[in-house]
Formats: sequence, C-alpha cells, structure tokens
Amino acid sequence: MYDLKILAESLFNEANSGIGKATGLEAAREGATVVVADLPGNDHEQTLNEIRALGAKCFFVPIDVSDVNSVKKAINLTVEKCGRLDIAFNNAGIGSPYSGIHDMPEDVWDKIISVNLTGQFYCLKYELQQFLKQGGGVIVNMSSLGGLKAEPGLVPYTAAKHGVLGTTKNIAIQYATQNIRANAL
Ligand SMILES: NC(=O)c1ccc[n+]([C@@H]2O[C@H](COP(=O)([O-])OP(=O)(O)OC[C@H]3O[C@@H](n4cnc5c(N)ncnc54)[C@H](O)[C@@H]3O)[C@@H](O)[C@H]2O)c1
Repeated sequence: MYDLKILAESLFNEANSGIGKATGLEAAREGATVVVADLPGNDHEQTLNEIRALGAKCFFVPIDVSDVNSVKKAINLTVEKCGRLDIAFNNAGIGSPYSGIHDMPEDVWDKIISVNLTGQFYCLKYELQQFLKQGGGVIVNMSSLGGLKAEPGLVPYTAAKHGVLGTTKNIAIQYATQNIRANAL
C-alpha cells in the first residue's frame, strides 16, 4: 500500500478524459490515496466519485501551478490531509497556438512557459522539500514527444517540454542518493 498524490490532476471541464484522471483511477485501483489537484472552478466531482467508487480515499486540492503561493499551499494541504507525500505526478499542461517565433506574442510565450515549465519548477521545489524531510519519494513529470522533437509552430510548448526533460534528468542525478526517484513521460 502506498499513497499517491497527483499534482496536478488532469481533469478539465471535460471531466471524463485526461491523462491525470486516468492515472488517478489506476492508482486508486492499486490502493493509493489520491489527491486530485487542479485549477479551482473546474468540475471535479465526477472524477472524485469515480475514484471513491473504487474504494480509494480521495481529496480535491485547488492549485494553479503558475502561482508559487498556490503551489505551496496545495502541497502543504496535501501533507496535512495525508500525513506524507509519496508520489507526485506533475502533469498540468496547456497547448500552444501555432505561430512562428518571429510573430509570437510575448504573453503567449510567457503563459505556456509559466504553466508547462515554471509551474513544474514550483511543484518540484516544494515536493522535494517534503521528500527530503520524510526520507524519499517518487516524481513523475509529464513531458511530451514535443520534449524530444520539434514541431514547426509549437515553439513555447517545445521549449517547455524539452525543459521538463532537462529538469528531470538533473533531479534524477542530484537526489538519487536521497531515496528520491525522478522520471519523465
Ligand atoms: N494528450 C496528449 O496527447 C498529450 C501528449 C503529450 C503530452 N501531453 C501532456 O500531458 C499532460 C496532460 O494532458 P491531457 O491531454 O490530459 O490534457 P488535459 O487538458 O485533459 O489536462 C490538463 C490538465 O491540466 C490542468 N491545468 C491547466 N493549467 C493549469 C494550471 N495553471 N494549474 C493547474 N492545473 C492546470 C487542466 O485543468 C487539466 O486538468 C499535459 O502536460 C500535456 O502537455 C499530452
């Protein structure tokens, strides 16, 4: 038995799809306690009900990964509710509109990077603090094929997902001796 905290859970208004939701359901089948962390205001009830129907404990925790205070609060709340944090699935992500970099609006670049890359940094920072405190943990960061290849027009998405792979490699090496495992999908 282990606890799984999903940060951030992949459920948008289309509450029946998403990689985060599928992961949460699978973890529940394996006996994990699941924390569904997502933007406040999205409809999470269906996911929570489906997870509970599998007999698993499950909580919703609001988070905006692009806001460091929100991330800190969400991770503190998770530890408060569950006593510890065993697995963090950093899955939140948004797509980018197709545009060449020569006419990419700065705010579009900033938004994609702030959710898909800086948001992961914020989550990792506070997850790792908890892992170091409790003596270990597991990180799974969501990248993409866009982390390995370039698709013309998807510049900030490609940059962010490449960054996720680089960050994950760095963490995997730096914290391996402290019983912390990090991988990216
Ligand atoms: N679906 C695919 O084919 C595919 C392929 C490669 C990578 N990915 C990656 O997988 C992850 C999940 O994708 P998905 O297809 O399940 O998409 P999805 O839209 O169903 O899920 C994304 C989730 O991230 C949440 N989110 C968005 N912005 C957020 C923020 N600021 N703070 C907290 N949560 C936020 C959304 O509310 C949603 O629940 C993303 O990182 C995406 O880039 C998806």
